[in-house]
Amino acid sequence: MATSKPAPVQLNFPPSSSMEVLFSKEEIAGRVKALGKQISEDYAGQSIVLIGVLKGAAIFLSDLARAISVDNTFDFVAVSSYGRARVSSGAVKLIKDIDNPIEGKHVIIVEDILDTGLTLSYLRGLMLQHMPASLKIATCLDKPERRLVPIEADYIAFQIPNQFVIGYGMDYAEKYRNVEDIRLFPEEAVGH
Ligand code: PRP
Repeated sequence: MATSKPAPVQLNFPPSSSMEVLFSKEEIAGRVKALGKQISEDYAGQSIVLIGVLKGAAIFLSDLARAISVDNTFDFVAVSSYGRARVSSGAVKLIKDIDNPIEGKHVIIVEDILDTGLTLSYLRGLMLQHMPASLKIATCLDKPERRLVPIEADYIAFQIPNQFVIGYGMDYAEKYRNVEDIRLFPEEAVGH
C-alpha cells in the first residue's frame, strides 16, 4: 500500500528591506550607548563578566561590551532551541556551559529578547549555583505580555508588544540575524 509523505514545511523568506523598521540601527546604537553608560556607572571601579546567550545575543553583546567603559570580559552559554516545545514543557536544556569560573565575580547575563522568561529563569538559577558576587540581566528587547514566569531584566534597551521581530541578532529560521535594524517579521509570511 502506498503511503503518502507529509508535505514539506514551506518557509517564506521575504527580503528584510520589505519589513517595517521597529528600531533603526541609529536608535539601537543610542540605547546601547545609554545602557553601557548606566552599567559603567553602576559598576564603577569593578570588573564585569558578560555572559551572552547564543546565538541571538551575540550582536547585542558585542556592541554592549564596547559601550561599557569598565573592565569586562565575556563568555557564552547555549540552551536548547526556542519553540513550542519549550513553552509547553517549560523545559530548557543547557547545550554549552560557561568556559571560565564566575565565583566571586560580578556577572551580567546578556540576552537579545526576554519573552516567556523560561530561558532566563533557568539560566539565572544555574548561574547562581556558581556563587557570583552579583548577578544581573541585560536584554535588548523585553516582551512583558508574553511572560510565563516572573522574571525581570535590570537593563532593557526596548520594551515591545507581542510582535515577531528579526534583525540585530534575532532570526526567523536562522535567517536575518545580520540585519542591522530590528524589523517586524510579517506574520503572513510564516508558511506553517
Ligand atoms: C530566544 C532568545 C532567548 C529566548 C527567549 O532564543 O534568544 O534566548 O528565545 O525566550 P523565552 O523568554 O521565551 O525563554 P532562541 O531559542 O530563539 O535561540 P537563538 O538565540 O539562537 O535565536
